[in-house]
Amino acid sequence: MLTDLRSLNLRGKKVLVRCDFNVPLEGGAIADPGRIDASLETIRYILGQGGAAVLCSHLGRPKERDLKYTLKPVAEYLSAKLGMKVPLAPDCIGDHTGRMVGVLAPGQALMLENLRFHPEEEANDPDFAHELARGKDVYVNDAFGTAHRAHASTVGVTRYLSERAPGFLMMREIEALGTLLQNPEHPYVAILGGAKVSDKIGVIRNLTARVDAFLIGGAMAYTFLRALGEPTGRSRVEEDKVELAAELMQAARAKGVAFELPVDHVVAAAPSADSVTEVVTRIPDDKMALDIGPETIKRFIAKIQTAKTVVWNGPLGLFEEAPFARGTMAVGEALANAAAKSVLGRGDTAAAVAGQPWASKFWHISTGGGASLEFLEGIELPGIKALER
Ligand code: 3PG
Repeated sequence: MLTDLRSLNLRGKKVLVRCDFNVPLEGGAIADPGRIDASLETIRYILGQGGAAVLCSHLGRPKERDLKYTLKPVAEYLSAKLGMKVPLAPDCIGDHTGRMVGVLAPGQALMLENLRFHPEEEANDPDFAHELARGKDVYVNDAFGTAHRAHASTVGVTRYLSERAPGFLMMREIEALGTLLQNPEHPYVAILGGAKVSDKIGVIRNLTARVDAFLIGGAMAYTFLRALGEPTGRSRVEEDKVELAAELMQAARAKGVAFELPVDHVVAAAPSADSVTEVVTRIPDDKMALDIGPETIKRFIAKIQTAKTVVWNGPLGLFEEAPFARGTMAVGEALANAAAKSVLGRGDTAAAVAGQPWASKFWHISTGGGASLEFLEGIELPGIKALER
């Protein structure tokens, strides 16, 4: 059972809020603030209830203090968004930070410096977790994107803060992704792409019992086609996963689940924007397939249009290069405009559709990359489990 954040009395309390502010930076500036925006509702709620918000997060994968990964740009972005100064504490623990937390008034927010400046964070060190909890009364975890990590700030800290609840973003993610595993409306379609079958094995296994159809694109499709004995030319094939691909396909078909692979392909001699491309149904020996072809797009869209639930993870071609982006964009646009509840994972899929005028029409775009994949694999996420009463 998870506690409803709205049921907690936050007035005058110091609330430690674990966020996932692991945002992409370009030249020190935030390239995509989506994850920060997604937690604003929770932060504003805490402040509005008279709580003081002590915000913490990791950024990147530093192994020690390294100011390349400072949360300063995040504190500045939050200050602008919240219309109030959100100071950055010099560290996430220690006396100086403790004093800054101590003087925080109700309705004020403080950003702690990167949790991963201390290796004890990832080691889920109990003393570090205790230090992090010191001076706080309530723990709120809104970091769905980090819920698959059993770290001090996502798991260890809950031992020391008994009043705890998921934030609103965490709840939205659990509910949206939860509908994909529990009682989804049928027809239910999973679109899977990306480079490797090996990244999706767990998801395919777990969804086989739930979906009506898999639509497979991206480079991973060619490992499946190889398993069927089809020519794959110089396309990327995971040789050591061909047998497994055959097993996954067989298991799905044995359960009556459709397993649709590309029937035509955009091929070229090399994966570059200036390559000459052609559409083929049989991949020539000297070419590599880099996108799904128009007939495949048509078939995939037809499936999407009759579906009630669709989960999409992984681009359907080398979308970064314009000549190979059409499959991902055409299927993405059709899905965004379809009546089905559509759920996308963060990472390549969301990056591929970002900036498209129809991108806001998806039912839910997760802020979790690895976390949403593990959720779909049916793995219990430690950061969610630790919030339970
Ligand atoms: C993510 O971006 O997937 C999360 O912030 C977790 O980051 P990590 O993979 O470095 O733990």
